[in-house]
Amino acid sequence: MPACGNEAHGQGPGGEKVTYVRKAGPNDATTLSKMNNEFNHLRIKPKDIHKKLNRGSEIVLVAEVDGKLSGFACAQIMDSFCYTKPYAEMTELFVRATSRRMGVGKALVGAIEKELLSRGVSHIHILTGMKNKSARALYEKLRYSDHKERREVLYDKNMKS
Ligand SMILES: CC(C)(COP(=O)(O)OP(=O)(O)OC[C@H]1O[C@@H](n2cnc3c(N)ncnc32)[C@H](O)[C@@H]1OP(=O)(O)O)[C@@H](O)C(=O)NCCC(=O)NCCS
Repeated sequence: MPACGNEAHGQGPGGEKVTYVRKAGPNDATTLSKMNNEFNHLRIKPKDIHKKLNRGSEIVLVAEVDGKLSGFACAQIMDSFCYTKPYAEMTELFVRATSRRMGVGKALVGAIEKELLSRGVSHIHILTGMKNKSARALYEKLRYSDHKERREVLYDKNMKS
C-alpha cells in the first residue's frame, strides 16, 4: 500500500499507469471542487475548499494518475474521553469514472490507513450504501468487516427547517 508521496502501479486498459497519492494542497482546490461535484453533486467554491483545507481538521488525500488528479479520500479522527482510543471515519472516497478499476481506490484507502496509523489511530469506520457494490467490493477486498447484523438506525435533523 502506498503511503502519501509513494507510488503505486496499476494496469489500466491503456497499459501501465502510475498512481501517486499525496496530501491535498491549496492548488488542488479547483479540481477538488469539480470532483466533489461529480461525486456529491454539490458546488463548493474553490476558495471555500481552500479555507477548509487550511483548517487542517480533516485528512484529505488526492490521487494523481499519470499526473492528473483522479480521486480523493477524506477522513476525520474522533477522540472522546468516553473511550480509551481514538478512531477515525473515512467520510469520502471518490475515483473519477475514467480511472476506476486501476487500483486508485485501493491506493487511496491504503494511504489513508497509513496516515492514520502515523497519527496513532488504528481503528477506522466507513459508512457506505448497502447497494454500493463497487465500494463494498473494494472494502471487502481490503479486509474491512461489515456489520449488517447491527440494528442501528441513523437519525438526522435539519435544525433550521
Ligand atoms: C468505489 C470506488 C472508490 C472504487 O475505486 P476504484 O479505483 O475503481 O477501485 P480499485 O480499482 O482500487 O478496486 C480495487 C478492488 O475493489 C474491487 N472493486 C472495485 N470496484 C469494483 C466494481 N465496480 N465491481 C466489482 N469489484 C470492484 C475489486 O476487487 C478491485 O480489484 P480488481 O480490480 O483487481 O478486481 C469507485 O468506484 C468510486 O469512486 N465510486 C463512486 C463513489 C463511491 O461510491 N464512493 C464510496 C463512498 S463510501
